[in-house]
Amino acid sequence: MKEQYKYVKNLIDKDLRNYLTSFSLSEPIFTPDVVVPQSHSTHSKDYIIYKHLLHFLKPRIEKETSLSLKPIYCYSRLYLEGAKLVKHKDRPSCEISVSLTLNFSYVDKKYKWPLCIENLPIVIKIGDGVIYKGCEVQHWRPIFTQPKPSWHHQVFLHYVNKNGPYEHLKEELTTEIANENKNYLDSLIDTNL
Ligand SMILES: [Fe+2]
Repeated sequence: MKEQYKYVKNLIDKDLRNYLTSFSLSEPIFTPDVVVPQSHSTHSKDYIIYKHLLHFLKPRIEKETSLSLKPIYCYSRLYLEGAKLVKHKDRPSCEISVSLTLNFSYVDKKYKWPLCIENLPIVIKIGDGVIYKGCEVQHWRPIFTQPKPSWHHQVFLHYVNKNGPYEHLKEELTTEIANENKNYLDSLIDTNL
């Protein structure tokens, strides 16, 4: 990927979007997000449904970037009234990042809430995403001013280039998931033998 960011249409279909948002809206044990107050978030190491989304969309992101990618983690965030994402760059685990709009519900139906990349506001339509170089470009969002019961559901996919400087980084998994994966792979080896 030569450009710093790229808008991609139709990254995810409606049924899958709605399934994920339905899950996130109904999940009662979300933890408050320390990075973005007034939001709730989940990390793929705790929710295998989002871990799978990271892997499921990898081929499409590889096609869009012309890179061979390694999944690192996925993050789901539900923004509520007053949420604000401050201007920042990401850690190396976010070398190739995707901000994907799953769904939103605004009291003001004409409201637009952009992701800003290097001073360029980008309104990401539902189902679309922006691929960006998370460690290189500044990104942020203005305050989400829509009153309750408005919400905005965004998912972030984070990969590293398998042929880049961060190829040594490993997918962020809980010990439990890592063990399950290892056991599963071990069982396949046994089967093949
Ligand atoms: Fe970020």
